[in-house]
Amino acid sequence: MTLSRFLSASLATSLLALTAPALAATVKSPDGRIEVTLDTDNEGKPFYAVSRDGKPVIAPSSLGFDFTNEDPLRRDMVVTGESRASADTRWEQPWGERRFVTDRHNELAVGFKGKPTAPGRDQRGFTVRMRVFDGGIGFRYEFAGRADHPVTSIADELTEFVIAPEGTAWWIPAGDWNRYEYPYSQTAIEEVSSAHTPITMRLADGTHISIHEAALVDYSGMWLKRMQGRRFRSTLSPSSRGAKVVRKGAFETPWRAIRIADDAAGLVENDLELNLNEPNKLGNVSWFEPTKYIGIWWGMISNRWTWAQGERHGATTERTKQYIDFAAKNGFRGVLVEGWDYGWDGNWFGNGRDFSFTRAYPDFDLEGLSAYAKKKGVRLIGHHETGGNIANYEAQLPDAMALYGKLGIDVVKTGYVADAGNIISCSADIADPCAGQTMEWHDGQRQVQHHLRVVQEAAKHRIAVNPHEPVKDTGLRRTYPNWVSREGARGMEYNAWGPFNNGPDHEPTLVYTRMLAGPMDFTPGILSLKGDNDVPLASTLAKQLGLYLAIYSPIQMAADFIESLAAHPRELAFIKAVPADWSESHLVAGEVGDYAIFARKDRNSDDWYVGGVNDATARDVTIRFDHLDAGRSYDATIWKDGPDATYLTEARHQIAYDAKTVRKGDTMHVRLAPGGGLAIRLKPRK
Ligand code: NOJ
Ligand code: CA
Repeated sequence: MTLSRFLSASLATSLLALTAPALAATVKSPDGRIEVTLDTDNEGKPFYAVSRDGKPVIAPSSLGFDFTNEDPLRRDMVVTGESRASADTRWEQPWGERRFVTDRHNELAVGFKGKPTAPGRDQRGFTVRMRVFDGGIGFRYEFAGRADHPVTSIADELTEFVIAPEGTAWWIPAGDWNRYEYPYSQTAIEEVSSAHTPITMRLADGTHISIHEAALVDYSGMWLKRMQGRRFRSTLSPSSRGAKVVRKGAFETPWRAIRIADDAAGLVENDLELNLNEPNKLGNVSWFEPTKYIGIWWGMISNRWTWAQGERHGATTERTKQYIDFAAKNGFRGVLVEGWDYGWDGNWFGNGRDFSFTRAYPDFDLEGLSAYAKKKGVRLIGHHETGGNIANYEAQLPDAMALYGKLGIDVVKTGYVADAGNIISCSADIADPCAGQTMEWHDGQRQVQHHLRVVQEAAKHRIAVNPHEPVKDTGLRRTYPNWVSREGARGMEYNAWGPFNNGPDHEPTLVYTRMLAGPMDFTPGILSLKGDNDVPLASTLAKQLGLYLAIYSPIQMAADFIESLAAHPRELAFIKAVPADWSESHLVAGEVGDYAIFARKDRNSDDWYVGGVNDATARDVTIRFDHLDAGRSYDATIWKDGPDATYLTEARHQIAYDAKTVRKGDTMHVRLAPGGGLAIRLKPRK
């Protein structure tokens, strides 16, 4: 290759900008505890390895790629050079679990080059950019553009994660029909099969780790396939196009992220993926108000009303008015109404071709109700169920968002009900015109592109988005803060469909797994503790309140029928008061899968809230009020499990109330019932 040819390829910029090759480049976290090595082994295989306090966490693990139309980049590679950087900054979230986030890391970028595919062809390779924080590591691959190979077609990414010590894993299966909606398995690490991320592990020495990804943009979601022992390899979500990822020109992969912490709290109070995402691209988003909402929803989920037209149609003008009145009276900003639009009458499941996102059913006065709500200080929350048909949705998207924008509807829940792999799309990827239907995965590149398209279109109209059956959260709320919440796990709805459908350990597992990814629209607040045919929930009444503190979302539903909310005035008082936006959040007691008690401070007042959820084992917990402001007395109002409460019997309805005065450093002993929970509101004395 001539020099000018080499320079003309933009790969040169990235590889030559690096300084001379170093042997086994290493980089440490700012506190010096984590050390990462990047190098090639004696077969020229690029690898990384991670240790903490000198003990291996990730044993040497390969890096590389297979392509559909060129040789792999996985061996016979050489290090071309390295560059270093570091950061120590603090940034502010517009809303969230905490107001300020610290980004302190050291960075090492190492260039790896492979052999040209043929003499005279452009140099091939990638840069691995590694960022090491006190709470974990993140790395991504960066590909420069190549003049003679403008499109990169990835057959699979070959990133490995070899977990050095033995340990326990909490995980859900990847590549199965029900997307992310599985109960979590707790197994030895060697017994995981293919898992979604985040996957959480507790290692033999007590170290907690979680493997996930950050900034999943224009790429396929990463699954983890266990190859043998404790060796995992990335498997990208499939595509109907052959290559799992197709990219033009220069590009970078999402960050591969590993949180590493001493304990469960260190895993939870960790902003690794947010820090790996790009800053806010939307500017001032103060138009999004963290919101609590009610809705015409549990009625359909529990089979009393229908989404479709007919006698039991849920979304009627009259019922919506009742819900708006209730919301106005009780300070809920939002009223979600599902089944308002044409398309539900036929077979919408995994089909979606009949959905209209602009035409309301005749018994639902969209314009009139939007105006009625606004007059009362309430907003309708929009709903777009697609049945997984994104071809149909994208064709209507500009009109659908413009309509909501015009009516002052500023949050939309979307839905993609279809079995995994059954997203109906046209191949509207980089170059292809839509030449017919393809079937895609909920976390494949095409659907990843789709979600961002919806979020960006919504942002034009100052609308926030809350997708169900979504792609997993990878921290993109930092870049697009109108992507406020999502489902992406078994939510409350499962409890309507069978007794104890979500077991009592489900939520205390979610806290340390799914919730590490970001906010979830779990939809708590089923105060009746009953679903379809009165099936019982594996929950006490106090747990329904504790969920508001355990499972964060800036839009929190009170999901029960309004009659049921009204029938529990003391619980409703808590739900009305609890914020959906915090200046600080701390896990004050808890273990993965067992229980989780948080202390959170309201972003808009000096009030604190303490509480959370328990699994099936009754336990006495000691809570220390270490986070309260010093020198102040707080009036604590307490909602806790009654002395005999248990999720197993009618005693699940038993709740006890208490009031106390507490100060920073005080302790409180509380008994959490089987399937129980706790909620405490702390108001500083004037
Ligand atoms: C599944 C969602 O999780 C649920 O909340 C919604 O009501 C239905 N799909 C219909 O869109
Ligand atoms: Ca769902």
